Amino acid sequence: MRRAVCPGSFDPVTNGHIDIVQRAARMFDEVVVAVGVNTSKNRLFTPEERIAMLEDACAGFANVSVAGFSGLLTDFCAQNGIQAIVKGLRAVSDFDYELQMAQMNASLADVETVFVPTSPEYSFLASSLVKEVAMFGGDVSALVPPNVHRQLTERLAQRS
Ligand code: PNS
Repeated sequence: MRRAVCPGSFDPVTNGHIDIVQRAARMFDEVVVAVGVNTSKNRLFTPEERIAMLEDACAGFANVSVAGFSGLLTDFCAQNGIQAIVKGLRAVSDFDYELQMAQMNASLADVETVFVPTSPEYSFLASSLVKEVAMFGGDVSALVPPNVHRQLTERLAQRS
């Protein structure tokens, strides 16, 4: 059984994330989308909300599940029998940090990182930019799943 993880903050999940998850699901028998809950960035959505949005967005993928994790990603991999970490690379600017994390994770555990090139139509996409554009009234409906767009609109309306 080849099992992989797609880790991230997913605040919120974008169509670029879903593209990577879908492609990982074609390469591995099982994929766990793991939502990191212990990172320091300010979040718009709670871990529970981010997990629920991902579950909805990934409902069509039979071999994909969603979980939250805290602590080290390599510990999550060991606890869940995961041999590979799948990360999307949008541009060279992503590479330095992703390589550093891949090498750190490999030094901590017997886990391989697989880099998947982001599809060109999503190469500019980042959760932080989606939030910023939406906050100033820009249309992000083509950039996130419909359920995310709905919740993003509601959350930003509550805050204004
Ligand atoms: O979407 P992000 O913010 O790029 O996700 C980063 C994430 C959650 C994948 C990364 O911060 C992570 O793996 N955090 C868990 C803590 C950990 O293992 N840190 C060491 C990384 S080498």
